[in-house]
Amino acid sequence: MTLSQRINGWLRPVPAWPLYILTAIYTVWMFYLAATGQMGVEPINTLEREYGEMALKLLIAGLIVTPLRTWTGVNLVKFRRAIGLCAFFLVLAHFLVFAILDVQSLGRVVTEVIERPYVTVGFVAFVLLIPLAVTSNNRSIRKLGPVRWRNLHKLTYPVAVLSGLHYVWLVKGWPIEPFAYMAVILALLVLRLKWTRIRGWFGAEKGDARA
Ligand code: HEM
Repeated sequence: MTLSQRINGWLRPVPAWPLYILTAIYTVWMFYLAATGQMGVEPINTLEREYGEMALKLLIAGLIVTPLRTWTGVNLVKFRRAIGLCAFFLVLAHFLVFAILDVQSLGRVVTEVIERPYVTVGFVAFVLLIPLAVTSNNRSIRKLGPVRWRNLHKLTYPVAVLSGLHYVWLVKGWPIEPFAYMAVILALLVLRLKWTRIRGWFGAEKGDARA
């Protein structure tokens, strides 16, 4: 038995729902730390950044599922929907901290989205995530059909690129982290395009509509 088969065997009985619980605990815990003065001198800003960074990590984790299965045989597909929905939930929390606690006015949210390019890019990524979150259920797969559903969910790639760009754009100087995230996102995108082409050569455009 190969290592990937062994890992898949271990993962078979593990359900995806604890991911939702862990994300909820993380979100509440971070909020608690900020609210009780345990997040440094700028707790709102730190909380906003915490949620944003965790959302980006989860978006990337969701993108890794398919190449991981393709290249190593390790199958995390059953966790992908939960990973994506948790990413959306954290982006929503990130946006709400920005809108309600940071800028504190709808007018200023609009101004920031219009006037600050990195906020514009983040906002577009957020808006593009909404149809993905809304259709991350079996009913939507049935309603849209697997091909349309799969095509719609290819939006995860532009969302990830825009999110990476959002991060790279907002930092000052040349810290390694945002560029490392962007490099991973672009590498996954290139892998994805190459793999689609390789499959095209063999005439097999098989896909997996399960989120
Ligand atoms: C898919 C959507 C989004 C992702 C993945 C995302 C991710 C991130 C990340 C990783 C950071 C930097 C965190 C750090 O420095 O450690 C950040 C910062 C920020 N994001 Fe987002 N973001 C998204 C959408 C949005 C939206 C919709 C808004 C507001 C309309 C927004 C506003 C901001 C702001 C203002 C900051 C900088 C906070 C500061 O330091 O002042 N983001 N975001």
